[in-house]
Amino acid sequence: MTAGQAQGKVILLGEHAVVYGHPALCGALRDGVTVEAVPGEGLLSVPAWGKRIAAGAQGDALGQAYGAILRSLALSGRPLHHDFVVRFAIPTSAGLGSSAALAVALARTLDSVLGLGLAAGAVAEAALAAETVFHGRPSGLDHTVAQHGGFGLFRREQGLSPLPASSLPLCIGLTGRARDTRGRVERVAELYRQDPDGMQGRFAAIAALVQRGAKAVTEGDLAALGEAMNRNQQELRHLEVSCPEIESMCRIATDAGALGAKLTGGGGGGCVIAVAPGREAQVQEAWRRAGFASFVTSVGGRPS
Ligand code: PMV
Repeated sequence: MTAGQAQGKVILLGEHAVVYGHPALCGALRDGVTVEAVPGEGLLSVPAWGKRIAAGAQGDALGQAYGAILRSLALSGRPLHHDFVVRFAIPTSAGLGSSAALAVALARTLDSVLGLGLAAGAVAEAALAAETVFHGRPSGLDHTVAQHGGFGLFRREQGLSPLPASSLPLCIGLTGRARDTRGRVERVAELYRQDPDGMQGRFAAIAALVQRGAKAVTEGDLAALGEAMNRNQQELRHLEVSCPEIESMCRIATDAGALGAKLTGGGGGGCVIAVAPGREAQVQEAWRRAGFASFVTSVGGRPS
């Protein structure tokens, strides 16, 4: 069996400010996406979505993204004798980087099944082509983390600077409300137009928390990381990117013993992350009692 794998991601600190040139602290999830090659005729199959489609399928973003990967790898039109079966070990459409992980894993599977000997840069280019189909103008954070793993400081234009740090356990809770990255990014832009000085002050405060968080993960200081996350969540509330479910989940997590909790990604819904060393089960149980699904994973590891 040939299968390629790639990791999901979380933004630990710094979303939204990153759009304005500040760094964000991000990390790869232990879990991600696997793409398995099985005998077939070149179709992409996603059993979880009941989909089996051809590259370039009209009106289908997944088919278009698959076509973009084949084009980027100069494989368009080449007969393929495998189907590619996608399995997600992370929730999709939740801000956890599943589409980028799918793209990287698919490029890796094509690489090994066809013996292409791709350089890392070619895999990255193929993944970026797919992400451009899914997201229009992706920052590049998701596919870079999906490919390389670990922790890093991400800046637009400059990309990811890896941080030397060990992985740490993380609770991820689902608000049950779709995240609203586009709408929230637009709202922040509106607030910025109304009060550029005030917003720059908030971004600077977030950037300082990102630096503190980067030091904390490098030193394995989870209390300092948790504190930075709580303060970042306060800033995010002022940016109007939180929602009642996120606020309630953060409160529940800290009441259950988490050192820190916040939204991750675009906000308005999506996921909440909590650092709760040794208290993960309590956080999960408290979320469950309030009706929120969750899972425990680790962040910052390398591809296995
Ligand atoms: O919702 P996600 O995981 O795609 O993250 C969005 C992060 C933002 O900073 C809000 C937007 C961006 O492009 O960086």
